Amino acid sequence: MINAFIIFSVTLLCLPGSGVCSVFQTPPDLIKNLNEIAEIKCAHNVSSYDRILWYKHSQDTGFTFMGYIFATSLKPEEEFTTKIKLSGDGSKNGSLTINSVSVNDSAVYYCAAYYTVL
Ligand SMILES: *[C@@H]1O[C@H](CO)[C@@H](O)[C@H](O)[C@H]1NC(C)=O
Ligand SMILES: *[C@@H]1O[C@H](CO)[C@@H](O)[C@H](O)[C@H]1NC(C)=O
Ligand SMILES: *[C@@H]1O[C@H](CO)[C@@H](O)[C@H](O)[C@H]1NC(C)=O
Repeated sequence: MINAFIIFSVTLLCLPGSGVCSVFQTPPDLIKNLNEIAEIKCAHNVSSYDRILWYKHSQDTGFTFMGYIFATSLKPEEEFTTKIKLSGDGSKNGSLTINSVSVNDSAVYYCAAYYTVL
């Protein structure tokens, strides 16, 4: 993981009590209502990298590895199998869909590209 190349981060912020969640990224912020889905996309063009990894970082829990896409195999971590949906191709682009966003999903989400160590 040390050599993983961080492409960008996106912040999902759900304001307690407000019923809305904002996703801060480029292009423009996306406002989500609680219980809607939030989709975060990520792409790279490093030809030797065949994996896209997803991490969640929140102040309370620190970094949590959420899963990865290796070529077209989708590998969410056990604890996230119902919370997220992965799609894409690790060699070029991927998306992370968060089902039913709630206050607990407020975090900075990191996408990283990585290569398979032989
Ligand atoms: C990858 O994309 C970046 C930004 O779009 C571009 O500057 C760079 O030249 C591209 N690299 C390759 C190897 O295509
Ligand atoms: C990846 O890129 C292809 C071609 O540009 C596009 O059709 C596809 O929707 C993208 N997939 C994701 C998960 O972003
Ligand atoms: C948020 O996390 C707290 C503490 O882990 C938990 O008690 C609560 O049920 C969670 N709320 C939702 C909506 O998942």
